[in-house]
Amino acid sequence: MAEKFRMLGFAGSLRKGSYNRSLLRAARDLKPANAELEIFDLEGIPLYNQDLEQQLPEKVREFKEKIRAADALLIATPEYNYSIPGVLKNAIDWGSRPHGDNVFDDKPIALMGASIGMIGTARVQYHLRQSCVFLNMHPLNRPEVMVPFAHEKIKDGKLIDQKTRDLVKQLLEGLVLWSTRLRQGLAAQEGRPGKAA
Ligand SMILES: Cc1cc2nc3c(=O)[nH]c(=O)nc-3n(C[C@H](O)[C@H](O)[C@H](O)COP(=O)(O)O)c2cc1C
Repeated sequence: MAEKFRMLGFAGSLRKGSYNRSLLRAARDLKPANAELEIFDLEGIPLYNQDLEQQLPEKVREFKEKIRAADALLIATPEYNYSIPGVLKNAIDWGSRPHGDNVFDDKPIALMGASIGMIGTARVQYHLRQSCVFLNMHPLNRPEVMVPFAHEKIKDGKLIDQKTRDLVKQLLEGLVLWSTRLRQGLAAQEGRPGKAA
């Protein structure tokens, strides 16, 4: 049997009833059959402190290992004060350090986000894309999954809005294809056969 395409997802909210955590769970149901999606909980990652870089906290070590093992990443995040929630930015900062050990380097990634407001996380997603430049990640451009009025589309932890479900499905299919193209491009550059997803 062909090896499954491995995605690692994490949410920028620790809230139990988080709409973004619900989006991630929905993604687990909507992913392509040849893919698996593990959800990593950022709860317990301490505040970044450069003094600890040479002896990473256990939870940070675990986070970095999971990212390394993943073929692609999926982030679901709320927007806080027009930008990236501290919980998520903190985790990204840990993953990018120490200097020379940025686990995000060359990773394909897809972004999505849910908000109770009408803009649906557009601003935080573009801020995240800016960080992707420095981290050398490869974000999928389309579809943009920005879920406004999340309280109307997610009920009791379930994504009930069909249009949003379709978009999430497209996002995951797109991520698998995008990652395969990147992998094959890299393999061609290096003169070896590329592994198909
Ligand atoms: C500190 C804070 C800042 C927020 N700022 C924004 C914002 O800039 N834009 C927005 O659309 N919603 C904002 N919200 C509302 C969030 O969309 C809402 O709380 C949402 O449910 C958070 O996502 P979650 O359900 O995954 O926790 C903010 C909420 C908090 C707690």
